[in-house]
Amino acid sequence: MITEIGEEIPSLKEKYAHFFDIGAAVNLKTIESQQEVLEKHFNSITAENDMKPAEVQPIEGQFTFEKADHLVSFAKKNGLKMRGHTLVWHNQTPEWFFQNSNGSPAAREQLLLRMKEHIEAVMHRYKGQIYGWDVVNEAVADEGPDLYRKTKWLEIIGEDYIEKAFEYAHLADPDALLFYNDYNESVPEKREKVYQLVKSLVDKGTPIHGIGLQAHWNLTNPSLADIRTAIERYASLGLQLQLTELDISVFQHDDRRTDLTEPTSAMLEQQAERYEQLFQLIREYREVISAVTFWGAADDYTWLNDFPVKGRKNWPFLFDQNHHTKDSFWRVARF
Ligand code: GLA
Repeated sequence: MITEIGEEIPSLKEKYAHFFDIGAAVNLKTIESQQEVLEKHFNSITAENDMKPAEVQPIEGQFTFEKADHLVSFAKKNGLKMRGHTLVWHNQTPEWFFQNSNGSPAAREQLLLRMKEHIEAVMHRYKGQIYGWDVVNEAVADEGPDLYRKTKWLEIIGEDYIEKAFEYAHLADPDALLFYNDYNESVPEKREKVYQLVKSLVDKGTPIHGIGLQAHWNLTNPSLADIRTAIERYASLGLQLQLTELDISVFQHDDRRTDLTEPTSAMLEQQAERYEQLFQLIREYREVISAVTFWGAADDYTWLNDFPVKGRKNWPFLFDQNHHTKDSFWRVARF
């Protein structure tokens, strides 16, 4: 495909072949509606929702892998790598994990067994097809003195639920790369907690290979300096890093405006500038960053369309609603 000025559109994954994988989160609809853009520019996918506990084991012992299987065969057919997301999380996880049939809370040993069986079932199914997993997602408290987010996992099992999850995952598939994944990962206060948590895992000899920086960012936050510090700090643990859910919202976190039907030109300019600076920065860290996965592929579909403001559209990616390249794309692709 050629642009208006006659320049051929480079493939992002080819441009970045010597840097890191370029990934996208997908679902059953987008692997069809965005097929062309996915095939040309991306060499890795993540299931946006279809491998979460609520999707694959909605009822104890009843596994529903159809959607996940479909995504895995899409990856196979197109020669894409696939990341697994996610095994242990406080969200999108059915209540039965934490309860007995009479409604009383599960005991520690029982919940550990359920965790182990869940991890085994899911990882065995996709062994050799999924190269790495977000084993534990979002276990750190955003604010306040607590290190651990208050969850049923923590309440019932205790702090060692995290290392147990990694141990079970390593047993289930010793070849899989195992990640701890979190958001607000570049905010200094939370960064230090994530660092502390992962350091304690590494010090105990827990099988963990990487940290996923979710990277749900906007036009100004977090600052490039904070992103750099986070990368350096996490990399000092000797683990590989990935940006796992990158999107650059055109709205500030507390901006509630709902009047826009398309992004303003100022937003698009700022976004292009931001993407350019960001990729310049992460290219410097190619030795430690193994993949950059966007939480979507093009602006026609993003979870941000309804979050945090219901019904409001957002335009966070490098490709527009019609899958055409935005300025943001060119600023990432030309270097
Ligand atoms: C978190 C999760 C993702 C997804 C996003 C919102 O970042 O890790 O799986 O749910 O929230 O789409």
